[in-house]
Amino acid sequence: MSFPIERPRRLRSRPALRRLARETQIAPQDLIYPLFVREGIDAPQPIEAMPGQQQHTLDSLAHEVEAALKVGVGSFVLFGIPARKDAQGSEAWAEGGIVQRALRQVREAFGTDVLLIADLCLCEYTDHGHCGVLEGDTVANDPTLEIYQRIAISQAAAGADVIAPSGMMDGQVRAIRAALDGAGYIDRAILAYAAKYASAFYGPFREAAGSAPRFGDRRGYQMDPANVREAVREARLDVDEGADIVMVKPALAFLDVIRAVADSTQVPVAAYNVSGEYSMVKAAAARGWIDERRILREILLGIRRAGADMILTYHAREVAADIPCWNDLG
Ligand code: PBG
Repeated sequence: MSFPIERPRRLRSRPALRRLARETQIAPQDLIYPLFVREGIDAPQPIEAMPGQQQHTLDSLAHEVEAALKVGVGSFVLFGIPARKDAQGSEAWAEGGIVQRALRQVREAFGTDVLLIADLCLCEYTDHGHCGVLEGDTVANDPTLEIYQRIAISQAAAGADVIAPSGMMDGQVRAIRAALDGAGYIDRAILAYAAKYASAFYGPFREAAGSAPRFGDRRGYQMDPANVREAVREARLDVDEGADIVMVKPALAFLDVIRAVADSTQVPVAAYNVSGEYSMVKAAAARGWIDERRILREILLGIRRAGADMILTYHAREVAADIPCWNDLG
């Protein structure tokens, strides 16, 4: 009988030893909480396809921010849903636009305790639901960049710390960096949605943000889920254009992409645990089919292990409240 020489089980044999040997941690400050604010409603509207999430009023937004701050989440990405849409998406850069008002109000209430990230895109603001302006049936890249520049300046003027362009137009980071610098906002960072895939996992978000395209789809600008080298290229281009952080989105079906991007860039990497990923967990948990707390821990650890420094997740507030109790899970 020959016995094992190496016994990895020793490190698993006691809870305190497991904790010491743990390679990856999740902390509330690693999480970014996406929130929706809608113009023209007088009470928050539950988002049916995203149980637990709402389209907020300015008031309920402030309450949600406060509750998240209490459990240690201080970073937020804001999405606006305007009352009025048009072909250009002009509410996206209106001084009194819903996101601009939300940015000002949250800053006023919470000061520098909060980091405010403004999603920069047109799909919530255009009547056709595409992420840029149209020429015929195609999204015109360069005219869209000029509009993105206006949006960036208006978001910075309203107090956004970070601008997060999510439209996947070529050259968007360079255009936005130039606009911000030209307007004196040299200190505002750019979190680039560098590798954003054309994904069915965004389904519930499009209900939440009222942003489904009226015709066609987004495959002419978002990436093909089959590609990973292309994601590395997109991340490199964004860093060369001035991105301070690069993002991969969605997360769970793209963990290899997170790893590839993290290995090939020197800037921090974000991953977006998107609406469909959120809703799948919520739906299965509601039926009692999965243990939600343990599933969430594994999901977030997996995204971190893949190389993400920060995670955008609708679970942010509930997870942050639960992290202090995670010892009994692991
Ligand atoms: C587009 C945008 C989308 C998401 C964030 N920004 C949707 C899309 O590209 O259709 C999706 C986020 C999610 O599904 O949680 N501005």
